[in-house]
Amino acid sequence: MKRFICKSALTLGCKVAGVKAYIEDDIFTTHAHDFVEEPEFLGAYARGIKAAGPHYYFRWRVHVALWAAGVARRLPGDFVECGTNKGFVASAIMHTLDWNSCGKRFFLLDTWQGLDVATLSDEEKKAGFVENSQKWIKEGIYETDFEAVTKNFSEWKNVSLIKGTIPATLPQITSDQIAFLHLDLNCSPPEIAALEYLWPKLVPGAMVLHDDYGGFPLSKLGMDEIAGRLGVQFVTLPTGQGLMIKPPEAR
Ligand SMILES: C[S@@+](CC[C@H](N)C(=O)[O-])C[C@H]1O[C@@H](n2cnc3c(N)ncnc32)[C@H](O)[C@@H]1O
Repeated sequence: MKRFICKSALTLGCKVAGVKAYIEDDIFTTHAHDFVEEPEFLGAYARGIKAAGPHYYFRWRVHVALWAAGVARRLPGDFVECGTNKGFVASAIMHTLDWNSCGKRFFLLDTWQGLDVATLSDEEKKAGFVENSQKWIKEGIYETDFEAVTKNFSEWKNVSLIKGTIPATLPQITSDQIAFLHLDLNCSPPEIAALEYLWPKLVPGAMVLHDDYGGFPLSKLGMDEIAGRLGVQFVTLPTGQGLMIKPPEAR
């Protein structure tokens, strides 16, 4: 996620030429966004905030993630998130899908130590990714309290918290069928490695949601390169996310 605490300059309910506007997380639109008032969405978003602490002002992103997760729920296979941090998005998803009745497993991967310098590209190092990560750890934005994360997810069964650096931890995902993959590492090489490693395990129609696609140019370059090699494409969403669906005929 590009910004953690992105204050909404004008919040919901604001009107432009008499029409309700959504102005948040680098989006300005008067298109329909009635989801922000739906009780189901409000419940899921509140559970995300309970996990994370502050309001991230990421409602449209969460709306997209909940939709993709809802589609993936109908597919065979488990869920994976690469980059969980405090569990904002994953908690919202599990709340919405009533995870304990879902019959799926959710594998949540993170160092819970911020970015691992060993996995960064030279360009990312030069661009200050290491310093940013250290700053976000100091500010409590990147979670290092693994017990707190464990406690957050303790209300749900079939959840595996896999602590350590991606790609080394990827073999700990003990599923051969994956329906939903959320990539949100804020750095490119381990995201590429994760998609490459998990690709054969993604079921036809699996949803791949890349949170960093529009917000991190180096991450977008990396995803486009691996997507090209796999013969697929991400769609750029105005939220900053990229979305890809594994084609039924792909292997
Ligand atoms: C933007 S945060 C994830 C946000 C999360 N999806 C949410 O819903 O709030 C990025 C996370 O990726 C983790 N991370 C970055 N590089 C990693 C790597 N190579 N292996 C594992 N975790 C990594 C960081 O520790 C951080 O918690």
